[in-house]
Amino acid sequence: NKRIKIKELLQQEPQEQEVTVMGWVRTFRNNQFIALNDGSTNTNLQIVAELGQFEESLLKRITTSASLKVTGTLVPSLGKGQKVELKARVIEILGDSDPEKYPLQPKKHSLEFLREIAHLRFRTNTFASVFRVRHALAFAIHKFFNEKGFVYIHTPIITASDAEGAGEMFRVTTLPFDNTPRNEDGSVDFKEDFFGKSTNLTVSGQLEGELAATALGEIYTFGPTFRAENSNTTRHLAEFWMIEPEMAFYDLEDNANLAEAFIKYIIKYVMDHNAEDLDFLAKRLADEEKQLPQDKRSEMGLIEKLEFVLNNQFERLTYTEAIDILANSNYNKKKKFQYPITGWGMDLQSEHERYLVEKHFKKPVILMNYPAQIKAFYMRMNDDGKTVAAMDILAPGIGEIVGGSQREERLDVLLKKMKDMNVPDEELWWYLDTRRFGTVPHAGFGLGFERMIQFVTGMNNIRDVIPFPRTPKNAEF
Ligand code: 4AD
Ligand code: MG
Repeated sequence: NKRIKIKELLQQEPQEQEVTVMGWVRTFRNNQFIALNDGSTNTNLQIVAELGQFEESLLKRITTSASLKVTGTLVPSLGKGQKVELKARVIEILGDSDPEKYPLQPKKHSLEFLREIAHLRFRTNTFASVFRVRHALAFAIHKFFNEKGFVYIHTPIITASDAEGAGEMFRVTTLPFDNTPRNEDGSVDFKEDFFGKSTNLTVSGQLEGELAATALGEIYTFGPTFRAENSNTTRHLAEFWMIEPEMAFYDLEDNANLAEAFIKYIIKYVMDHNAEDLDFLAKRLADEEKQLPQDKRSEMGLIEKLEFVLNNQFERLTYTEAIDILANSNYNKKKKFQYPITGWGMDLQSEHERYLVEKHFKKPVILMNYPAQIKAFYMRMNDDGKTVAAMDILAPGIGEIVGGSQREERLDVLLKKMKDMNVPDEELWWYLDTRRFGTVPHAGFGLGFERMIQFVTGMNNIRDVIPFPRTPKNAEF
């Protein structure tokens, strides 16, 4: 008997021929009804072990999370909510699970509790759905760029450059811990180097991406990036995945158009291919929000929100316009912001971004043309001499999901900017070569993969959309 996955089996009609399934027990009721899950769907297969047909010693071992191989016939089900069930002929225990020790019970656990047993949380419906959606989004991302003829470039993880100039980097060292020379008092002079060169884990693949784009035309990266920010928020990880397309001959508007089309495409892909998971997650979110006071609940359900995003243009406005809206908002007047609006030039905090998307526009927003001094050195100076051709995309419930810009392609302007911002130009000689040898207008952006997954799944905490979150003090497994 060839093994068949439960998702496929549940779509079949009852039949004479026997089938075999394998999976993990979710529940076992009345010494007779097994709910089996194999990870292909959240819908469990009901297996009937007819009374008197199986040894008591075997039935005792059918406990939550034991793994089974079951062969039997698919018959019409009398139970509600399922068309078919499996009448078992042979039940084999593949692996026992001690119910006294297994930490997951067939009941609802809090996400906080599940985070502490992240090695087992794949076995819950919520996380199975989240990670199937994560997979689908990753696949859709490659599909989108492949269809447009972009080339996937693998940029280095260990690098000497600080692409963002923000300094939040993890240093790399080649010193094996055991051989680290000790001082007399036992302390170590920690040498941070990569075979004699100072390096760090990459914060972004953008600069290398620009090298490829200014030859291949349109490229994208999709890899892990690292930020040593010691921040405990629901939006930050020390290790997160980023998608960074980079395109020669694009200006800021082309860049924004691509980003909007890209986000809509991957949302649509998941809606078309993971409807069951999204329905499950939508219901989970609605249940969770029932605990909240009325004014804290979302106006739209998850599916409704995604459909709304697909069917509406993102709002586009300048940083300057945003500051005006914020300064004149009731929120600001009633001093509801933790950081009051001090005027043009200030950096926007996430509370401001969320006000714009959630309270004012109520849809995704593309903010453009930020003051040069609050953005990275590589962004293109606008004609006003004050702002750069930057764009951030803000999403309801999340805040910033995309950061991007048209890049400064004029060598003299770029060099002056680097000097002003204390970015060492000698170290970036290879980057500057693109501006020396056939420079072209170009642009790109970075989408935070986990923030995108949060948006699509409705999961509130970024730690719940990556299998093994790296956050301060959290790196055990
Ligand atoms: O805005 P950021 O820092 O932009 C860059 O790194 C550019 N080099 C991108 C580019 O133009 N190619 O980061 C881009 C996105 C943010 O908008 C956010 O979604 C996500 O990456 N991000 C994080 N996600 C999780 N945890 C963190 N600590 C993040 N920092 C940024
Ligand atoms: Mg940013």
